[in-house]
Amino acid sequence: MEQKWKLMLTNSFFRTLSHVADFSELIGLQHYMGVMYLITLIEKVVPLSDEHVLVMEESFAGVEVLVYQPQQKTDGSDLRTAMVYLHGGGWCLGSPRMSPYDLLARKIVMDLNAVVLSVDYRLAPPNHFPVPYEDVYRVVKHFLQEEVLALYSVHPGRIAVSGDSAGGNLAAAVTQQLLNDPEQQVHFKAQGLLYPVMQALDLNTPSYQQNQDMPLLPRTLMVRFWSEYFTTDKRLFQAMMANTHNSPESSTLLKFVNWSAFLPDKYHKHYNYSEPVVMQADGKAVPENGHWRWIADPRASPLLVPDSALRVLPKTYVLTCEFDVLRDDGVMYVSRLRAAGVDVTHQHYETGFHGAMMFTVWPTDFQIAHLMTDHFVKWLQMNL
Ligand SMILES: *[C@@H]1O[C@H](CO)[C@@H](O)[C@H](O)[C@H]1NC(C)=O
Ligand SMILES: *[C@@H]1O[C@H](CO)[C@@H](O)[C@H](O)[C@H]1NC(C)=O
Repeated sequence: MEQKWKLMLTNSFFRTLSHVADFSELIGLQHYMGVMYLITLIEKVVPLSDEHVLVMEESFAGVEVLVYQPQQKTDGSDLRTAMVYLHGGGWCLGSPRMSPYDLLARKIVMDLNAVVLSVDYRLAPPNHFPVPYEDVYRVVKHFLQEEVLALYSVHPGRIAVSGDSAGGNLAAAVTQQLLNDPEQQVHFKAQGLLYPVMQALDLNTPSYQQNQDMPLLPRTLMVRFWSEYFTTDKRLFQAMMANTHNSPESSTLLKFVNWSAFLPDKYHKHYNYSEPVVMQADGKAVPENGHWRWIADPRASPLLVPDSALRVLPKTYVLTCEFDVLRDDGVMYVSRLRAAGVDVTHQHYETGFHGAMMFTVWPTDFQIAHLMTDHFVKWLQMNL
Protein backbone atom coordinates (compact mmCIF):
# COMPACT_ATOMS: atom_id res chain seq x y z
CA MET A 1 0.00 0.00 0.00
CA GLU A 2 1.08 3.52 -0.82
CA GLN A 3 3.07 5.34 1.94
CA LYS A 4 1.57 3.07 4.52
CA TRP A 5 2.67 4.77 7.74
CA LYS A 6 1.55 8.18 6.62
CA LEU A 7 -1.77 6.71 5.61
CA MET A 8 -2.19 5.03 8.99
CA LEU A 9 -1.55 8.33 10.75
CA THR A 10 -4.04 10.13 8.54
CA ASN A 11 -6.50 7.33 9.13
CA SER A 12 -6.12 7.51 12.91
CA PHE A 13 -7.24 11.12 12.75
CA PHE A 14 -10.31 10.15 10.68
CA ARG A 15 -11.15 7.27 13.01
CA THR A 16 -10.81 9.41 16.12
CA LEU A 17 -13.07 12.03 14.62
CA SER A 18 -15.58 9.33 13.72
CA HIS A 19 -15.63 8.10 17.33
CA VAL A 20 -16.12 11.64 18.61
CA ALA A 21 -18.93 12.04 16.07
CA ASP A 22 -20.60 8.81 17.20
CA PHE A 23 -20.35 9.88 20.84
CA SER A 24 -21.63 13.34 20.12
CA GLU A 25 -24.64 11.87 18.34
CA LEU A 26 -25.24 9.38 21.14
CA ILE A 27 -25.47 12.10 23.78
CA GLY A 28 -27.61 14.25 21.50
CA LEU A 29 -25.07 17.01 21.07
CA GLN A 30 -24.63 17.03 17.33
CA HIS A 31 -25.50 14.79 14.37
CA TYR A 32 -22.68 12.43 13.29
CA MET A 33 -22.17 14.22 9.98
CA GLY A 34 -22.14 17.58 11.75
CA VAL A 35 -18.97 16.56 13.57
CA MET A 36 -17.45 14.82 10.53
CA TYR A 37 -17.87 18.08 8.65
CA LEU A 38 -14.74 19.25 10.47
CA ILE A 39 -12.80 17.37 7.78
CA THR A 40 -14.21 19.85 5.28
CA LEU A 41 -13.64 22.89 7.48
CA ILE A 42 -9.96 22.29 8.17
CA GLU A 43 -9.16 22.29 4.46
CA LYS A 44 -11.34 25.26 3.56
CA VAL A 45 -9.76 28.13 1.67
CA VAL A 46 -11.05 31.31 0.08
CA PRO A 47 -10.55 30.71 -3.65
CA LEU A 48 -8.93 33.86 -4.98
CA SER A 49 -7.99 35.00 -8.44
CA ASP A 50 -4.28 35.08 -9.24
CA GLU A 51 -2.24 36.15 -12.23
CA HIS A 52 -3.23 33.08 -14.24
CA VAL A 53 -6.68 32.13 -13.02
CA LEU A 54 -9.79 34.23 -12.57
CA VAL A 55 -12.13 32.83 -9.90
CA MET A 56 -15.72 33.98 -9.59
CA GLU A 57 -18.54 32.95 -7.29
CA GLU A 58 -21.77 32.68 -9.24
CA SER A 59 -25.24 31.34 -8.77
CA PHE A 60 -26.46 29.10 -11.61
CA ALA A 61 -30.17 28.27 -11.43
CA GLY A 62 -30.09 29.06 -7.72
CA VAL A 63 -27.09 26.86 -6.94
CA GLU A 64 -23.72 28.24 -5.91
CA VAL A 65 -20.81 27.51 -8.21
CA LEU A 66 -17.20 28.57 -8.45
CA VAL A 67 -16.15 29.45 -11.97
CA TYR A 68 -12.43 29.19 -12.75
CA GLN A 69 -11.21 30.72 -16.01
CA PRO A 70 -7.88 31.55 -17.60
CA GLN A 71 -6.98 35.23 -17.04
CA GLN A 72 -5.83 35.52 -20.59
CA LYS A 73 -8.67 36.65 -22.86
CA THR A 74 -9.60 34.70 -25.94
CA ASP A 75 -10.09 36.58 -29.18
CA GLY A 76 -13.44 34.84 -29.58
CA SER A 77 -12.32 32.55 -32.39
CA ASP A 78 -10.48 29.97 -30.27
CA LEU A 79 -13.09 28.55 -27.97
CA ARG A 80 -12.13 26.81 -24.75
CA THR A 81 -12.80 23.41 -23.31
CA ALA A 82 -14.71 23.16 -20.05
CA MET A 83 -15.23 20.85 -17.13
CA VAL A 84 -18.04 20.62 -14.62
CA TYR A 85 -16.48 19.27 -11.41
CA LEU A 86 -18.39 17.60 -8.58
CA HIS A 87 -16.58 17.16 -5.28
CA GLY A 88 -16.70 14.01 -3.17
CA GLY A 89 -17.62 13.50 0.48
CA GLY A 90 -20.41 10.94 0.47
CA TRP A 91 -23.08 13.54 -0.41
CA CYS A 92 -22.73 14.70 3.22
CA LEU A 93 -19.29 16.33 3.39
CA GLY A 94 -16.94 18.29 1.18
CA SER A 95 -17.00 21.59 -0.65
CA PRO A 96 -15.48 23.10 -3.79
CA ARG A 97 -13.73 25.46 -1.39
CA MET A 98 -11.46 22.74 0.02
CA SER A 99 -7.87 23.32 -0.99
CA PRO A 100 -7.42 20.04 -2.96
CA TYR A 101 -10.45 20.87 -5.13
CA ASP A 102 -9.33 24.44 -5.53
CA LEU A 103 -5.86 23.28 -6.63
CA LEU A 104 -7.26 20.69 -9.03
CA ALA A 105 -9.53 23.27 -10.65
CA ARG A 106 -6.59 25.66 -11.14
CA LYS A 107 -4.45 22.92 -12.62
CA ILE A 108 -7.13 21.99 -15.14
CA VAL A 109 -7.58 25.64 -16.10
CA MET A 110 -3.84 26.02 -16.69
CA ASP A 111 -3.08 22.69 -18.34
CA LEU A 112 -6.13 22.61 -20.60
CA ASN A 113 -6.84 26.30 -21.06
CA ALA A 114 -10.26 25.31 -19.77
CA VAL A 115 -13.13 26.81 -17.84
CA VAL A 116 -13.89 24.82 -14.69
CA LEU A 117 -17.21 24.94 -12.93
CA SER A 118 -17.00 23.57 -9.38
CA VAL A 119 -20.49 23.01 -8.01
CA ASP A 120 -21.47 23.71 -4.41
CA TYR A 121 -24.50 21.41 -4.40
CA ARG A 122 -26.46 21.13 -1.16
CA LEU A 123 -25.55 18.26 1.17
CA ALA A 124 -27.36 15.57 3.12
CA PRO A 125 -28.48 15.62 5.84
CA PRO A 126 -30.55 17.83 5.83
CA ASN A 127 -30.83 17.72 2.03
CA HIS A 128 -31.53 14.09 1.21
CA PHE A 129 -31.72 12.61 -2.26
CA PRO A 130 -32.77 13.85 -4.77
CA VAL A 131 -31.76 17.39 -3.69
CA PRO A 132 -27.96 17.11 -4.22
CA TYR A 133 -28.51 15.35 -7.55
CA GLU A 134 -31.10 17.89 -8.68
CA ASP A 135 -28.85 20.81 -7.75
CA VAL A 136 -26.19 19.37 -10.02
CA TYR A 137 -28.67 18.69 -12.80
CA ARG A 138 -29.98 22.26 -12.69
CA VAL A 139 -26.48 23.73 -12.81
CA VAL A 140 -25.55 21.53 -15.75
CA LYS A 141 -28.74 22.42 -17.67
CA HIS A 142 -28.05 26.07 -17.07
CA PHE A 143 -24.41 25.93 -18.11
CA LEU A 144 -24.96 23.81 -21.22
CA GLN A 145 -27.01 26.48 -22.99
CA GLU A 146 -25.38 27.91 -26.09
CA GLU A 147 -25.72 31.50 -24.88
CA VAL A 148 -24.23 30.74 -21.45
CA LEU A 149 -21.33 28.83 -23.00
CA ALA A 150 -20.71 31.76 -25.31
CA LEU A 151 -20.33 34.09 -22.31
CA TYR A 152 -17.39 31.97 -21.17
CA SER A 153 -16.02 31.31 -24.68
CA VAL A 154 -16.62 27.57 -24.28
CA HIS A 155 -16.87 25.19 -27.23
CA PRO A 156 -20.20 23.32 -26.87
CA GLY A 157 -18.63 20.15 -28.24
CA ARG A 158 -15.73 20.05 -25.78
CA ILE A 159 -17.18 19.86 -22.29
CA ALA A 160 -16.48 17.16 -19.72
CA VAL A 161 -18.04 16.30 -16.41
CA SER A 162 -16.04 14.77 -13.62
CA GLY A 163 -16.12 14.01 -9.94
CA ASP A 164 -14.55 11.87 -7.26
CA SER A 165 -16.35 9.35 -5.06
CA ALA A 166 -19.88 10.69 -4.48
CA GLY A 167 -19.04 13.36 -7.06
CA GLY A 168 -18.29 10.58 -9.55
CA ASN A 169 -21.71 9.15 -8.75
CA LEU A 170 -23.35 12.50 -9.52
CA ALA A 171 -21.28 12.90 -12.69
CA ALA A 172 -22.28 9.47 -14.00
CA ALA A 173 -25.94 10.02 -13.13
CA VAL A 174 -26.19 13.46 -14.68
CA THR A 175 -24.47 12.30 -17.90
CA GLN A 176 -27.02 9.50 -18.28
CA GLN A 177 -30.06 11.59 -17.44
CA LEU A 178 -29.10 14.41 -19.76
CA LEU A 179 -29.20 11.96 -22.66
CA ASN A 180 -32.81 11.11 -21.72
CA ASP A 181 -33.81 14.72 -22.01
CA PRO A 182 -35.27 15.29 -25.50
CA GLU A 183 -34.90 19.06 -25.26
CA GLN A 184 -31.22 18.97 -24.38
CA GLN A 185 -29.01 20.10 -27.28
CA VAL A 186 -25.53 20.15 -25.76
CA HIS A 187 -24.15 16.99 -24.18
CA PHE A 188 -20.89 16.07 -22.50
CA LYS A 189 -18.02 14.95 -24.69
CA ALA A 190 -16.40 12.99 -21.88
CA GLN A 191 -16.90 11.88 -18.29
CA GLY A 192 -14.18 11.30 -15.72
CA LEU A 193 -15.22 9.08 -12.84
CA LEU A 194 -12.69 8.98 -10.03
CA TYR A 195 -13.28 6.05 -7.65
CA PRO A 196 -17.02 6.61 -8.14
CA VAL A 197 -19.93 5.28 -6.05
CA MET A 198 -22.14 3.47 -8.54
CA GLN A 199 -24.76 1.38 -6.77
CA ALA A 200 -26.61 0.92 -3.47
CA LEU A 201 -28.08 -2.53 -4.04
CA ASP A 202 -25.21 -4.81 -3.10
CA LEU A 203 -22.97 -3.56 -0.32
CA ASN A 204 -21.15 -6.89 -0.06
CA THR A 205 -19.19 -6.97 -3.29
CA PRO A 206 -15.73 -8.55 -2.98
CA SER A 207 -14.17 -5.10 -2.59
CA TYR A 208 -16.62 -4.22 0.19
CA GLN A 209 -15.60 -7.48 1.88
CA GLN A 210 -11.87 -7.20 1.24
CA ASN A 211 -11.61 -3.55 2.30
CA GLN A 212 -14.23 -3.32 5.01
CA ASP A 213 -11.71 -1.97 7.54
CA MET A 214 -9.43 -0.12 5.13
CA PRO A 215 -8.45 3.48 5.57
CA LEU A 216 -9.98 5.97 4.83
CA LEU A 217 -13.38 4.70 3.92
CA PRO A 218 -14.35 1.68 6.01
CA ARG A 219 -17.52 -0.11 4.98
CA THR A 220 -19.45 1.31 7.96
CA LEU A 221 -18.77 4.86 6.82
CA MET A 222 -19.75 4.16 3.21
CA VAL A 223 -22.97 2.51 4.41
CA ARG A 224 -23.55 5.52 6.63
CA PHE A 225 -23.12 7.86 3.65
CA TRP A 226 -25.51 5.80 1.55
CA SER A 227 -28.20 5.68 4.20
CA GLU A 228 -27.84 9.38 5.05
CA TYR A 229 -28.16 10.23 1.38
CA PHE A 230 -31.69 8.82 1.49
CA THR A 231 -32.89 9.23 5.05
CA THR A 232 -31.94 9.76 8.68
CA ASP A 233 -34.13 6.74 9.56
CA LYS A 234 -31.60 4.44 11.27
CA ARG A 235 -33.40 1.32 10.06
CA LEU A 236 -32.05 1.84 6.57
CA PHE A 237 -28.50 2.02 7.94
CA GLN A 238 -29.02 -1.21 9.88
CA ALA A 239 -30.53 -3.01 6.90
CA MET A 240 -27.74 -1.79 4.62
CA MET A 241 -25.09 -2.96 7.09
CA ALA A 242 -26.66 -6.44 6.89
CA ASN A 243 -27.14 -6.10 3.09
CA THR A 244 -30.83 -6.88 3.60
CA HIS A 245 -32.18 -3.57 2.32
CA ASN A 246 -33.45 -4.71 -1.07
CA SER A 247 -37.15 -4.60 -1.78
CA PRO A 248 -39.08 -6.65 -4.35
CA GLU A 249 -38.80 -3.60 -6.62
CA SER A 250 -35.03 -3.21 -6.40
CA SER A 251 -34.46 -6.97 -6.60
CA THR A 252 -35.42 -6.97 -10.29
CA LEU A 253 -32.37 -4.75 -10.85
CA LEU A 254 -29.87 -6.98 -9.03
CA LYS A 255 -28.85 -8.37 -12.40
CA PHE A 256 -27.15 -5.04 -13.17
CA VAL A 257 -24.87 -5.29 -10.14
CA ASN A 258 -24.13 -9.00 -10.35
CA TRP A 259 -20.44 -9.07 -9.52
CA SER A 260 -20.09 -12.72 -10.35
CA ALA A 261 -20.94 -11.74 -13.93
CA PHE A 262 -19.27 -8.30 -14.22
CA LEU A 263 -16.00 -8.61 -12.30
CA PRO A 264 -12.91 -10.13 -13.89
CA ASP A 265 -12.19 -13.55 -12.48
CA LYS A 266 -9.25 -12.38 -10.34
CA TYR A 267 -11.55 -10.22 -8.23
CA HIS A 268 -14.29 -12.68 -7.50
CA LYS A 269 -12.63 -16.08 -7.47
CA HIS A 270 -12.02 -15.96 -3.72
CA TYR A 271 -15.59 -14.97 -3.00
CA ASN A 272 -18.79 -16.95 -3.56
CA TYR A 273 -21.61 -14.94 -4.99
CA SER A 274 -24.82 -14.83 -3.01
CA GLU A 275 -27.70 -12.65 -3.96
CA PRO A 276 -28.62 -9.94 -1.43
CA VAL A 277 -31.58 -10.89 0.75
CA VAL A 278 -34.84 -9.31 -0.39
CA MET A 279 -37.23 -8.04 2.26
CA GLN A 280 -40.91 -8.23 1.52
CA ALA A 281 -42.70 -4.90 1.57
CA ASP A 282 -45.01 -6.06 4.33
CA GLY A 283 -42.07 -7.07 6.49
CA LYS A 284 -41.33 -4.78 9.41
CA ALA A 285 -37.91 -3.86 8.06
CA VAL A 286 -39.14 -2.17 4.90
CA PRO A 287 -41.53 0.75 5.36
CA GLU A 288 -43.93 0.86 2.43
CA ASN A 289 -43.36 4.46 1.55
CA GLY A 290 -40.55 6.88 2.00
CA HIS A 291 -36.95 6.67 1.13
CA TRP A 292 -36.42 3.00 0.52
CA ARG A 293 -37.64 3.18 -3.04
CA TRP A 294 -34.84 5.59 -3.89
CA ILE A 295 -32.22 2.86 -3.71
CA ALA A 296 -33.50 1.54 -7.04
CA ASP A 297 -33.37 4.96 -8.69
CA PRO A 298 -30.63 5.17 -11.35
CA ARG A 299 -30.10 8.85 -10.49
CA ALA A 300 -28.73 7.54 -7.19
CA SER A 301 -27.30 4.26 -8.53
CA PRO A 302 -26.18 4.86 -12.13
CA LEU A 303 -25.16 1.22 -12.53
CA LEU A 304 -28.84 0.28 -12.58
CA VAL A 305 -29.63 1.38 -16.12
CA PRO A 306 -30.10 -1.14 -18.95
CA ASP A 307 -27.48 -1.56 -21.68
CA SER A 308 -29.52 0.58 -24.07
CA ALA A 309 -28.87 3.57 -21.80
CA LEU A 310 -25.15 2.82 -21.64
CA ARG A 311 -24.56 2.54 -25.39
CA VAL A 312 -25.11 6.25 -25.95
CA LEU A 313 -22.65 7.42 -23.29
CA PRO A 314 -19.58 9.50 -24.16
CA LYS A 315 -15.92 8.61 -23.74
CA THR A 316 -15.28 7.62 -20.17
CA TYR A 317 -12.32 7.59 -17.82
CA VAL A 318 -12.65 5.44 -14.72
CA LEU A 319 -10.11 5.47 -11.90
CA THR A 320 -10.24 2.64 -9.36
CA CYS A 321 -8.09 1.74 -6.37
CA GLU A 322 -7.30 -1.70 -5.05
CA PHE A 323 -7.75 -0.73 -1.39
CA ASP A 324 -11.22 0.70 -1.73
CA VAL A 325 -14.67 -0.66 -0.89
CA LEU A 326 -15.83 1.03 -4.10
CA ARG A 327 -13.32 -0.70 -6.37
CA ASP A 328 -15.93 -3.11 -7.72
CA ASP A 329 -18.52 -0.38 -8.32
CA GLY A 330 -16.05 1.20 -10.74
CA VAL A 331 -14.86 -2.07 -12.25
CA MET A 332 -18.42 -3.27 -12.88
CA TYR A 333 -19.24 -0.01 -14.64
CA VAL A 334 -16.16 -0.45 -16.82
CA SER A 335 -17.25 -4.00 -17.75
CA ARG A 336 -20.77 -2.96 -18.54
CA LEU A 337 -19.71 0.12 -20.54
CA ARG A 338 -17.21 -1.86 -22.58
CA ALA A 339 -19.77 -4.57 -23.29
CA ALA A 340 -22.08 -1.80 -24.51
CA GLY A 341 -19.37 -0.50 -26.86
CA VAL A 342 -18.44 2.69 -25.00
CA ASP A 343 -14.86 3.97 -25.31
CA VAL A 344 -13.49 3.48 -21.77
CA THR A 345 -10.07 4.16 -20.30
CA HIS A 346 -9.70 2.28 -17.03
CA GLN A 347 -6.82 3.25 -14.76
CA HIS A 348 -6.50 0.92 -11.81
CA TYR A 349 -4.02 1.69 -9.03
CA GLU A 350 -2.78 -1.46 -7.32
CA THR A 351 -1.41 0.51 -4.35
CA GLY A 352 -4.16 3.13 -4.26
CA PHE A 353 -6.68 3.78 -1.50
CA HIS A 354 -10.03 5.52 -1.56
CA GLY A 355 -9.80 9.29 -1.83
CA ALA A 356 -6.09 9.20 -2.72
CA MET A 357 -6.23 11.75 -5.53
CA MET A 358 -7.24 14.58 -3.22
CA PHE A 359 -4.31 14.13 -0.84
CA THR A 360 -2.23 16.78 -2.52
CA VAL A 361 -1.82 19.23 0.35
CA TRP A 362 0.73 19.14 3.16
CA PRO A 363 0.81 17.50 5.71
CA THR A 364 -1.42 14.85 4.16
CA ASP A 365 0.17 14.86 0.73
CA PHE A 366 0.76 11.53 -1.02
CA GLN A 367 2.91 10.94 -4.10
CA ILE A 368 0.18 8.81 -5.66
CA ALA A 369 -2.17 11.80 -5.64
CA HIS A 370 0.10 13.67 -8.05
CA LEU A 371 0.51 10.61 -10.24
CA MET A 372 -3.27 10.17 -10.44
CA THR A 373 -3.78 13.84 -11.25
CA ASP A 374 -1.15 13.77 -14.00
CA HIS A 375 -2.64 10.65 -15.62
CA PHE A 376 -6.10 12.14 -15.56
CA VAL A 377 -5.03 15.51 -16.95
CA LYS A 378 -3.11 13.76 -19.75
CA TRP A 379 -6.19 11.80 -20.66
CA LEU A 380 -8.23 15.01 -20.74
CA GLN A 381 -5.64 16.70 -22.95
CA MET A 382 -5.93 13.87 -25.43
CA ASN A 383 -9.66 13.33 -25.32
CA LEU A 384 -11.39 16.62 -24.70
C1 LIG B 1 -25.43 -13.65 -11.38
O1 LIG B 1 -24.59 -14.27 -12.31
C2 LIG B 1 -24.45 -15.66 -12.14
C3 LIG B 1 -23.51 -16.18 -13.23
O2 LIG B 1 -22.37 -15.40 -13.35
C4 LIG B 1 -25.80 -16.33 -12.26
O3 LIG B 1 -25.66 -17.72 -11.96
C5 LIG B 1 -26.79 -15.70 -11.30
O4 LIG B 1 -28.07 -16.22 -11.50
C6 LIG B 1 -26.84 -14.20 -11.48
N1 LIG B 1 -27.72 -13.60 -10.50
C7 LIG B 1 -28.43 -12.50 -10.77
C8 LIG B 1 -29.27 -11.96 -9.69
O5 LIG B 1 -28.40 -11.93 -11.85
C1 LIG C 1 -17.00 -21.08 -1.88
O1 LIG C 1 -17.69 -22.26 -2.12
C2 LIG C 1 -16.84 -23.41 -2.24
C3 LIG C 1 -17.71 -24.61 -2.67
O2 LIG C 1 -18.88 -24.64 -1.93
C4 LIG C 1 -16.12 -23.65 -0.92
O3 LIG C 1 -15.25 -24.74 -1.02
C5 LIG C 1 -15.31 -22.39 -0.58
O4 LIG C 1 -14.71 -22.52 0.68
C6 LIG C 1 -16.20 -21.15 -0.57
N1 LIG C 1 -15.37 -19.95 -0.43
C7 LIG C 1 -15.66 -18.96 0.39
C8 LIG C 1 -14.71 -17.81 0.42
O5 LIG C 1 -16.66 -18.94 1.09
